[in-house]
This record gives sequence, C-alpha cells and structure tokens, in this order.
Amino acid sequence: MLITSVKTDPIAMFAEDVRAGLTRPEQKELPSKYFYDEIGSAIFEAITLLPEYGLTRADERLLRKYSDAIAARTTSPVMVVELGSGNGKKAQWILKSLARRQPTTYCPIELSHSALLACEREIDHLEGVSVLGFETEYLDGLRRAASRRAQNQRLLVLFLGSSIGNFDPGPAEDFLRKICDILAPGDALLLSADLVKPIEQMVRAYNDPTGVTAAFNLNLLARINRQLEGNFDLLHFQHVALYNSRERRIEMHLRSKCSQTVTIRRAELVFRLEEDETIWTENSYKYTPEEVIQMAERAGFHCEAQWVDEEWPFAQSLLSLA
Ligand SMILES: C[S@@+](CC[C@H](N)C(=O)[O-])C[C@H]1O[C@@H](n2cnc3c(N)ncnc32)[C@H](O)[C@@H]1O
Repeated sequence: MLITSVKTDPIAMFAEDVRAGLTRPEQKELPSKYFYDEIGSAIFEAITLLPEYGLTRADERLLRKYSDAIAARTTSPVMVVELGSGNGKKAQWILKSLARRQPTTYCPIELSHSALLACEREIDHLEGVSVLGFETEYLDGLRRAASRRAQNQRLLVLFLGSSIGNFDPGPAEDFLRKICDILAPGDALLLSADLVKPIEQMVRAYNDPTGVTAAFNLNLLARINRQLEGNFDLLHFQHVALYNSRERRIEMHLRSKCSQTVTIRRAELVFRLEEDETIWTENSYKYTPEEVIQMAERAGFHCEAQWVDEEWPFAQSLLSLA
C-alpha cells in the first residue's frame, strides 16, 4: 500500500487548535480528532473489544450480513473510500464481497499514521484489492481519492463507527452535503449511526468499569504533554461521560479535581482551571433511524436501504445521490 501523507505541519495545527479550544471564554474544549495518536488509536482498538461498547460489533454484524447485497448493486470496478478507517477491520467484509465480482481499490483516509499502518497490515493480503491510503482530513482525502478514479469506476464511501455522531447536527448535515457534492451519479455512501437506547447502556459504553475509555480520554492531555510540551498532571483530572437528554448526545469531559495552572509551551499558553471545571473533549449524538434518513435526504441523498441491528440498536444506511 502507498500511504500518501498530505499533512502540512501537523504540530503547528495541533498547537493552534489546542490554544483556540483552551482559551474559549465559557467552556474549554479540545477537538476529538486529536484523540488518535499512536497510543490513542491503540486504546480505541481496546475500546472496541469492551463488552460495554456495542457499536463496533453491531456495525460488523450488519456488514457481515449485508455486504453481498451492497456489492451486488454494481458490476463496474469500485473504489471504496473509508473516512476515518481506523484499522480497516470492518471494511474487509465489503471489500471481500466486492473483490469477488470486480476489481476493487480501497482508499482509507486517516489522520492517525498508526491507524493507517494497522490498516495496511489488515487489508494488504486481500486478493483483488489494491490499497491507496491518504493521511489527511476526511474531505480532503475524499477529494484526492475521487480525483484518481478511472472513468468507469464507481465510488462507495464508508463512514462507519457512528463517527457522524461526533458532529453537531447542523455540521453533520453540512458534512453529508459536502460528501454529496464530491460524488457522482451511481456512487453511494454507507453511513453508520448509533441509535438512542436506554441511558445506562449508552453511558456505560463511554464509561466502562475497567477504565479503558477514561485512559483514552486522558491520553489527549498526555498527547499535549508529549507533543506540545504541556505540563498537565493527569492525576488531577477525572474522566466524565454523561448523557445530555435534551441534545440526545453523550458528552465526554475531563474534570479538573482542583484549581490549577497549566502551561503548554508550544501553544504559547498558560491557563487556569478551577476545581470542577471541565474540558469538553467529545460529543456522540444518538439518532433514530428516521432522523438519519431525513438528514441524509436534506443533504441531497436518497436512502436505498437501511438496516438496523437488533442486539445493539444501530443503523446502517445505504445512500445514493438523489
Ligand atoms: C471512532 S474511530 C472509528 C474507526 C473506524 N471507522 C471504526 O468504525 O471502528 C475514528 C477514526 O477516524 C479518524 N479521524 C477522526 N477525525 C478525522 C478527520 N477529521 N479526518 C480523518 N480521520 C479522522 C481517527 O484517527 C480514528 O481512527
């Protein structure tokens, strides 16, 4: 596999985003995309194995069941572009089904270099699949991959793991609209979304008793220490996951256990946190199946099929251009 890195000075961008998030006047924030350095990506893989985190298994069950039906939509060569592929394990199901029928190219798009390398190990052995990875942001990667497609090649975009839930509702719809603008008639998007379920079940998925998700959240501060010369004392922070019923989202925060001053040299930042003040690190919105379809349709898609996992309420929607 060829990994095409198109990042421009990632440390400077990281420093800029950290500075912007931690100097916000009301609620301090850090963008969740920075969870995934080498350690964060490894911890995320552990999260996907936790009994409390049903999302990955539900996604995989649906792919196992419906990949053949998705592959049967087209006889043309296909380029599969996966946005935020992680280790690419789940994409294998669809890639195998497609490669049995037609030549298939797989383009994982990832910010995490180590996730792309894991993806290479996972996919490179698949017969009939050629791999071209892009180390960059979702839409930039999608544009780059789409610009390389052959004339008769169809594009199938995968956005799995309910990563759409990390966007606020307005930006989620805008994001789908931007994907739609890059696609051409005959292309499709397979979109996963975690569904609303009993609150305790949702909260435990982000606050497991073994503390793996806590480590994932805290690693963001450790990453700032490592890469931006910060001096966060991780013992002075507590992982918090709560369900905001009004917004229908899980929020992850890092709560300061005491009043403290933190310095981040490479972001040229010294700032204060009061006791109990939090840094907001991630949202994971929960949907109803109908909401996913309505949002996709407003963004310019037509829903060809939607499948729901019964064991862990979770939806996959196959969307084509309207
Ligand atoms: C929640 S994980 C999901 C991984 C995999 N798709 C799955 O379903 O298990 C999100 C992945 O997307 C990547 N990612 C997050 N934000 C990104 C962005 N803006 N552009 C590209 N990749 C991103 C992360 O590095 C991480 O590997």
